[in-house]
Amino acid sequence: MSTSMPIEPNVKASVALSLLGLELDNRRLMRLSGSEKLPEGQRQMKYKPQDMLNIRARLANTTPEAVKKAMAVNTELPAVVVTRMTKGGIGKTSITVNLGTALALSGYRVLLIDADPQASATNMLGIETETYHPHIGTLLLKGGDKPDDLREFIIPIFKDGFLDLIPSDVELDSTNPALIVGMGREQKAEEFVLRNRAFLSKHYDVILVDTTPGTTPVSVAFTYLAHLAGKILTVVEPEGSCLRALDALQFNLDEIQKLAKRPIDLAILVNKAQIGRKHVEHNYAILTKSYPNRILPVQIPHSIAFTRQIDADDVPASMPVILKDPNSKAAESLYQFARVIASEFNVTQPGFAAKA
Ligand SMILES: Nc1ncnc2c1ncn2[C@@H]1O[C@H](COP(=O)(O)OP(=O)(O)OP(=O)(O)O)[C@@H](O)[C@H]1O
Ligand SMILES: [Mg+2]
Repeated sequence: MSTSMPIEPNVKASVALSLLGLELDNRRLMRLSGSEKLPEGQRQMKYKPQDMLNIRARLANTTPEAVKKAMAVNTELPAVVVTRMTKGGIGKTSITVNLGTALALSGYRVLLIDADPQASATNMLGIETETYHPHIGTLLLKGGDKPDDLREFIIPIFKDGFLDLIPSDVELDSTNPALIVGMGREQKAEEFVLRNRAFLSKHYDVILVDTTPGTTPVSVAFTYLAHLAGKILTVVEPEGSCLRALDALQFNLDEIQKLAKRPIDLAILVNKAQIGRKHVEHNYAILTKSYPNRILPVQIPHSIAFTRQIDADDVPASMPVILKDPNSKAAESLYQFARVIASEFNVTQPGFAAKA
């Protein structure tokens, strides 16, 4: 994103419809967004996150004004989606960042927390990490009930608060030994959320967390946080060692659920799917047998579009697939995935009728 931050993204009608999961006449879509005709000099309508929010509001029989009012007084915590996988390199960051982007493009207000010292999510959103950024580790180590000044930590990625980032920094790794010796370390991420409840519930509809591979005190604290959602997102490749890593994650979850005294189910996303390859079909069969009803009804195909997301030589030019290649097959599957997650993790907005 070589343009200056924050950016004001927009999507064309076909992408807007994919994000909404609807088939609508272009003219009706335009009217739902609040426009009667194309803006001067524009050949096709472009929808900003606020337009998408307006469309969804009107489709849900409420109004953008009513939603705005409800947001200002909201005290409900945002939905929480934590991404975890013990194995590295399977696509956690790619999935989490694209999910955050897709939800933000749909008009949800997203806070993405990069909880991995590798800072790949931070880089994927075009933020350089050569110099120090205040990071989530500082917030995890704090105690007390006094809310933090989160503005010191947040980098706005999209305008108008649709996508905010708490970036990572290599220094975040030093939070791990500090948490090991601390008391109540598993509850630290939840404490951070509850301490900042007023700010978070007013500004966000969903909090997404990208974590490290492996099991570290920081990733355990965020896994514990997932009890608020009752589930945790995990990303797998249909490949042998990954399935065993999933069993290891399930073991870790069993321990954390006991502590939280609340269930934390797996919501499994199959990534890098290469349909038709024999070993893939075989492993997929094992997966569905071992984790019935836990596999999300969408897969992300293997696609080279993903490898273009981070430009190591020019980080500010990095960006997630759905901004870089919005018409690609990969992007299309990610729009569908974002809708599945919104439904599975109960991502809603103030002023919309609560889901059953
Ligand atoms: N669907 C996909 N098709 C092809 N390549 C992919 C896909 N998803 C991710 N990748 C690639 O796989 C590599 C690892 O992706 P990513 O960094 O998102 O994984 P990760 O699980 O977050 O890794 P880490 O464990 O290091 O945090 C990257 O090069 C990414 O471009
Ligand atoms: Mg990662």
